[in-house]
Amino acid sequence: MKRVKSLSIFQEACQRMPGGVSSPVRACKGLDMTPLIIERAKGSTLFDVDGNRYTDYCTSFGALIVGHAHPEVVKSTISQIHKGSSFGATAEEEVLLAKKILQHMPSMDKLRFVSSGTESTMTALRLARAYTGKDVIIKFTGHYHGHSDALLVKAGSGVLGINPTSSSKGVPSSWIHSTLSLPFNDLVTCQSILRARDDIAAVILEPIAANQGLIPANVDFIQMLREETDKKGIILIFDEVITGFRLGLGGAQELYHIKPDLTCLGKIIGGGFPAAAFGGKKALMDQLAPLGEVYQAGTLSGNPVAMSAGLKTLELLETPDCYETLAYQTTLITEALREKINQEKVDIEVIQAGSMFALSLKTEGSSSFEPLSLKQYHYLFHQFFNHSIYLSPSPYEVNFVSLAHTEPDIHQMLEVIRRLEFKLF
Ligand SMILES: Cc1ncc(COP(=O)(O)O)c(C=O)c1O
Repeated sequence: MKRVKSLSIFQEACQRMPGGVSSPVRACKGLDMTPLIIERAKGSTLFDVDGNRYTDYCTSFGALIVGHAHPEVVKSTISQIHKGSSFGATAEEEVLLAKKILQHMPSMDKLRFVSSGTESTMTALRLARAYTGKDVIIKFTGHYHGHSDALLVKAGSGVLGINPTSSSKGVPSSWIHSTLSLPFNDLVTCQSILRARDDIAAVILEPIAANQGLIPANVDFIQMLREETDKKGIILIFDEVITGFRLGLGGAQELYHIKPDLTCLGKIIGGGFPAAAFGGKKALMDQLAPLGEVYQAGTLSGNPVAMSAGLKTLELLETPDCYETLAYQTTLITEALREKINQEKVDIEVIQAGSMFALSLKTEGSSSFEPLSLKQYHYLFHQFFNHSIYLSPSPYEVNFVSLAHTEPDIHQMLEVIRRLEFKLF
């Protein structure tokens, strides 16, 4: 595969942008390759600047559940751009999208739009601290909630690939002290800390952890979190930036039948544009300025183009059976992977949640994730890449199937899986 122009653009990018990228994991660190330099994308396919095409299972890290440049999303956003791209004032699209999200996620009475998942989780913590008058936050090791200081403690995703302590330099130690990172799904440890301490403002978690492979919360663990936080007035925050509208219209909270106090959303609700939100009960949300004294603001928050893309995306997801189709297509892939792995007798686990899938090494217990080593992931990743299939470029990230993946796409994937080699395992 020729990638001469990609290399030349990437070299130029490296002169001007740290690592040649705007977000670290895009650098494909450890995969010994020039990262993709994309010219355009349509449906399930990415086209690079050298004219190569790739079936995309990263799909903008899960944002594009209806695929790239969906005609209806394109139509509604272009129509919005003609009307103006940012007003610095409320537009009706914001209210329509808010209404739709709240209708599907009844744990929230109100929400506020922001531009990124990072802003959403960062502000949810501020709100929780203001409401409880306490400072300490509990998060779970390997969960990624964006890159705000308080949450960059033992984080997953790109942070795990860059720094083995999965934290970042530059985070003040005072922040680290007010964030407790506990082992996920460890009911006894977490329950005893929640019972023993009186300084905890919030517990934040990805109900299905998707930034260190894929680890669903155990039902008894998540029920315990709800019960203990309720007893002590601690704010329970579900970070559904990935799972929101990915697993169903009601998110992971609907699957677990748990109502968190605050929910963070991102990715899908922006339909491929920068939009995110956080929301919850009225009493909590009305603390926000201008009603209350918790400050939060954003020049481009609730951007009307992003709102119209999000609104159209959610409308498309309301089509009957679309989540069943997504899960079915994904199951074809994961079953083929399992069959191949069993034949080859390698110790790899294939994990699926709806339209997400990931590979990990076999582990004991449900709280740990043992990622493939970079060398192992490199070996597998390139077997797909050589057949024009683009998986997420890190062993910590999950893969996403979209509504734009066609039968031929899935068949191509199954063919490659049948021919996979596992010499390195
Ligand atoms: C669960 C989760 N929360 C928060 C974020 C941060 O979102 P953003 O990258 O939009 O800041 C991410 C990003 O991948 C995420 O996966």
